[in-house]
Amino acid sequence: MPLTNAEDRYGSVTKTFHWLIALLILTLIPLGLIANDMAYDTAEQLATKAWLFSLHKTLGITVFFVALARILWALTQTKPASLHPERKLETFAAETVHWLLYASLVIVPLSGWIHHAATSGFAPIWWPIGQDLPLVPKSDAVAGAFGAMHVIATNVLEASLALHVLGALKHHFIDRDSTLRRMWFGTTTATTPGGTHNMRRPAITAAVIWAVAIAFGAGLGMSGAENDGPAPTALAEVQSDWQVQNGTLSITVNQFGSDVTGSFADWTADITFDETVQNGVAGAVEATISIGSLTLGSVTDQAMGPDFFNVEEFPTASYSAEIATTTDRTTANGTLTIKDQSVPLELPFDLAIDGDTATMKATTTLDRRDFNIGDNMNDEGSLKFPVTVQIELTATRAAATN
Ligand code: HEM
Ligand code: HEM
Repeated sequence: MPLTNAEDRYGSVTKTFHWLIALLILTLIPLGLIANDMAYDTAEQLATKAWLFSLHKTLGITVFFVALARILWALTQTKPASLHPERKLETFAAETVHWLLYASLVIVPLSGWIHHAATSGFAPIWWPIGQDLPLVPKSDAVAGAFGAMHVIATNVLEASLALHVLGALKHHFIDRDSTLRRMWFGTTTATTPGGTHNMRRPAITAAVIWAVAIAFGAGLGMSGAENDGPAPTALAEVQSDWQVQNGTLSITVNQFGSDVTGSFADWTADITFDETVQNGVAGAVEATISIGSLTLGSVTDQAMGPDFFNVEEFPTASYSAEIATTTDRTTANGTLTIKDQSVPLELPFDLAIDGDTATMKATTTLDRRDFNIGDNMNDEGSLKFPVTVQIELTATRAAATN
């Protein structure tokens, strides 16, 4: 069997590429649909869903590279001509679909890959190529746009593939010509020598269809980027001796081996502190955190669920502590309450006071099991037990702000 194509036949390299990719695509579509629809209420379901997604992504990236090789190969090859060039509309439709399919082999996996690279933490790709892509920021907006684009692009692929397969079956069973046979293995040449190609019009039509689909997908992604869950509890502003001007409260969890960092957008702290106290209790802090204001990469929704923070029942967390100083350190000593669990927490921190402005920084590690978070995830491979908390804030003396 010749390796290369000719005017009236496909060579074995083209055929191998075609059927290998067909097999992968016909596996990936159900895999994507099943993984996407699968519930993840329990730890087992979540682990299965993540495994299916990892398989989907790993095979999807394989398709991307095999497809690039196939496209490069096709560029060096003659495209066998249509068997029925006189059927102008049918030939035009078949060639438009071929262009749609070729483009889908790049657009579908690439949109999925960019979506993955813009998020963090869920279902890693198994190839040892890292989880990120150059120039792709970790961003909910980028992830939303490319996630929607991936879904729309798979719809274009599915529709084109349906037409393509129906066309092939029509040729085989109704026209009884050699269209399907000449793509299968063995040396089958077309019975009628083909006509000439008009590649431009089908290629332009396919490009227009893709442009509309991509624009639609991106628009859908942007409009769906807003949070559709329940609105987080908004905390009332707090007036205190030391008024927090800005700061971040972030957490880092490790899910499926990747670190995922996120932060709470809404929290308040009522702080009293007398810096003249050298040794002993110098003040107190009462902090309240709106759990629903947390953004945690692609696992934000999951973190809010009943197995984790259970935001519906426990919309806020709190930390109530005394602040004590010794000559060499400042420490908050108190109780952290998340859900219905109150746990003692000693939090040493760095404090710098410059006139009426104080900056503080602290890092601590909590064990999620102390707060019944992810109780059903007992293995650290899915979700590690330690959670790192980082706090940074700048506060000004209330008298100074009045
Ligand atoms: C040619 C290759 C691929 C095909 C045919 C494919 C197909 C699909 C399909 C049919 C879905 C379900 C869409 C729906 O629910 O309507 C899906 C979802 C998904 N795929 Fe792919 N995919 C491919 C490559 C990839 C790659 C390379 C990645 C990531 C590295 C990826 C990541 C995803 C993700 C994250 C979803 C869920 C979408 C979301 O929730 O926004 N896919 N894919
Ligand atoms: C079971 C499913 C499939 C069947 C029965 C099938 C059948 C065929 C046949 C018979 C041809 C030759 C058409 C001709 O000679 O004019 C062909 C060509 C082609 N197929 Fe498929 N195919 C299938 C799946 C796929 C898939 C999944 C893709 C890619 C996503 C694909 C992409 C293409 C392309 C791009 C061509 C044109 C090749 C060229 O001339 O450069 N096919 N297919």
